[in-house]
Amino acid sequence: MQSKKTVLITGATDGIGRALAKIYRTRGDRLILVGRRTLDTLNNPLYTKNTYCRADLSQDKCADRVCEFLNAQKIDAIDLAIQNAGTGYFGPIAEQSAESIREITAVNLMAPLRLTHALMPYLQANGKLVLIGSITHAFPCPDYAVYAASKEALNTLGRNLKIENDINVQIIHPGATRTGLHRKIGMDNEKTKKFPSAEKVAQKITQAIDGRRLVATIGWQNAWARFLGRYCEGIVNAMVRTT
Ligand SMILES: NC(=O)c1ccc[n+]([C@@H]2O[C@H](COP(=O)([O-])OP(=O)(O)OC[C@H]3O[C@@H](n4cnc5c(N)ncnc54)[C@H](OP(=O)(O)O)[C@@H]3O)[C@@H](O)[C@H]2O)c1
Repeated sequence: MQSKKTVLITGATDGIGRALAKIYRTRGDRLILVGRRTLDTLNNPLYTKNTYCRADLSQDKCADRVCEFLNAQKIDAIDLAIQNAGTGYFGPIAEQSAESIREITAVNLMAPLRLTHALMPYLQANGKLVLIGSITHAFPCPDYAVYAASKEALNTLGRNLKIENDINVQIIHPGATRTGLHRKIGMDNEKTKKFPSAEKVAQKITQAIDGRRLVATIGWQNAWARFLGRYCEGIVNAMVRTT
C-alpha cells in the first residue's frame, strides 16, 4: 500500500487542478489547495480552513502567503507540489492590454519561480516538483503568444532545475482540455466541446506523475504535435499560417 502523501496543488479551484485534488483526496493524501477565491465561495468539502490557502498568484508576495499557510498548519515537508495555476489571453498581442501581459507572466511564470524557490526547503530530498506546462510551448498557437511564451519559459525552468541540482522535477504538457480557461480568456466555448474533460486529463497527469519522465506530454496526438513543432518548425509554422 502507498503511504499517504502531502500534496500541494496551485490553481485547485477549477478545471484540471480541482480534478487533480479529487484524485489525490481519493488516494487519502493530505491536501494543500491554493486558489485566489474566498473559502466561503467554494462550496465543496475539498476546501476547508485546513486545506485551502488563499493566495493571488499574480501578486509578488504570493509565495510568502503560501509559506505562512504551511507554517500555520505545521507542515514542514511536502511530497508533491503541482504548480498548475494558469491564465491566458486569446487574440493578437496588439489588442492585448499591458495588464493582461503582466498577469499572465505573473501567474504562469513568476509564481512558479517564486514558489519553486520558496518550497525548496519543504521538498527536501524526496519531494517532487511538477510544473504544468502546455503543448503550446512547442507547437505554434497564434493568438496565444504571451501564454505560449510563459509555458516555454516554464519548460526551460524544469529542464534546468533537473540538471542544476538533480531536483526531482517533472514538466507535464497537456493539450487542449475542456475547462473554464477558454471562457475566462475570451475564447468561444463552442470550440472546446470536443476537447477531453479535465477529469480525463487529470487522470493521465497523475499517471505521468507516478512515473519518472522529466518531460511528459499528455496524449499521443499531443506528443506528435510537440515533436513536429520542435523538430519541423519551418514546415509547421508555414502550415499553421495558412490554416
Ligand atoms: N485547458 C486547456 O486547454 C489547457 C491546455 C494545456 C495546458 N493547460 C494548463 O493547465 C493548467 C490548468 O488550467 P485549466 O485549463 O484547468 O484552467 P482553469 O479551469 O481556468 O483553472 C485554472 C486555475 O488557476 C487559478 N488561477 C488563475 N489565476 C490565478 C491567480 N491569479 N491566483 C491564483 N490562482 C489563479 C484559477 O482560479 P479561478 O478558479 O479563480 O479562475 C483556477 O483554479 C494551466 O496551467 C493551463 O495553462 C490548460
